[in-house]
Amino acid sequence: MKVVSSLAELRSARAALHGPLGLIPTMGYLHAGHLSLVQRARIECASVAVSIFVNPTQFAPAEDLASYPRDLDRDLAMLKRVGTDLVWTPVAEEMYPSGYQTWVTVERLTLPLEGAWRPGHFRGVATIVAKLFNAMQPQRAYFGQKDAQQALVIRQMVRDLNFPLEVVVGQIIREPDGLAMSSRNSYLAPDQRRAATVLHRALKAAEHAFAAGDHDAESLRRIMMDILLTEPLAVSEYVSVAEPDTLSEIDGEVRRALLSMAVKVGKTRLIDNLELG
Ligand code: PAF
Repeated sequence: MKVVSSLAELRSARAALHGPLGLIPTMGYLHAGHLSLVQRARIECASVAVSIFVNPTQFAPAEDLASYPRDLDRDLAMLKRVGTDLVWTPVAEEMYPSGYQTWVTVERLTLPLEGAWRPGHFRGVATIVAKLFNAMQPQRAYFGQKDAQQALVIRQMVRDLNFPLEVVVGQIIREPDGLAMSSRNSYLAPDQRRAATVLHRALKAAEHAFAAGDHDAESLRRIMMDILLTEPLAVSEYVSVAEPDTLSEIDGEVRRALLSMAVKVGKTRLIDNLELG
């Protein structure tokens, strides 16, 4: 497994890789969700590359950029075990040198949900992902469904900017009690960790109601809210029943939907989602 940092090193290491390349962009502090994407890429591609970069431009000033968990040695050991050909750990000064002024903005899809609560977030995500694609030139790029809106935004950007690659979205990997895996779960104190299962419980309650014949969007939102309200440590930011391709909120009858939510447990902001229909 080759590990490179500068763009010059990356370009020569990339040139030495054979066949279709699968790229898994990450911000590090890897967990089983990331590793499942690496394993899938291992099966589907001749070569596998992972980028590890805590991208400063997708964090708002009051967010957790400084405290975001980092452990490069641990990440590299995990990647070596699952079989990775190339790891790129870009440096911020090379990604955003002084005088930097070029941004990628995806419009409508970034307005609701995470975009509404984290202004500027998707501009940072789309810009860094475009830069990673330009440098790595992968044939496939792998993202997790936990960040469902991010996956849609990146698909849209790939289509709109004619990147010659396929976006692959891997299913959410969960802890045995249902909590979606996330690097930010490491912030949770034991009582908060227990409380954090409320997101999955709320999504499952709406899924059961839908399966039992409740297809009314407002009723499904209410079912999720009611479960979230049972957990005193959880404060919800949004609860959504949206059209899965456009993310417009559904009013009335639900045939297919993306159920999603963002909830704060203490200072930790958690997101989760589930597809219906
Ligand atoms: O999902 C993430 O970890 C990040 O948003 C990504 C796609 C690596 C861009 O920084």
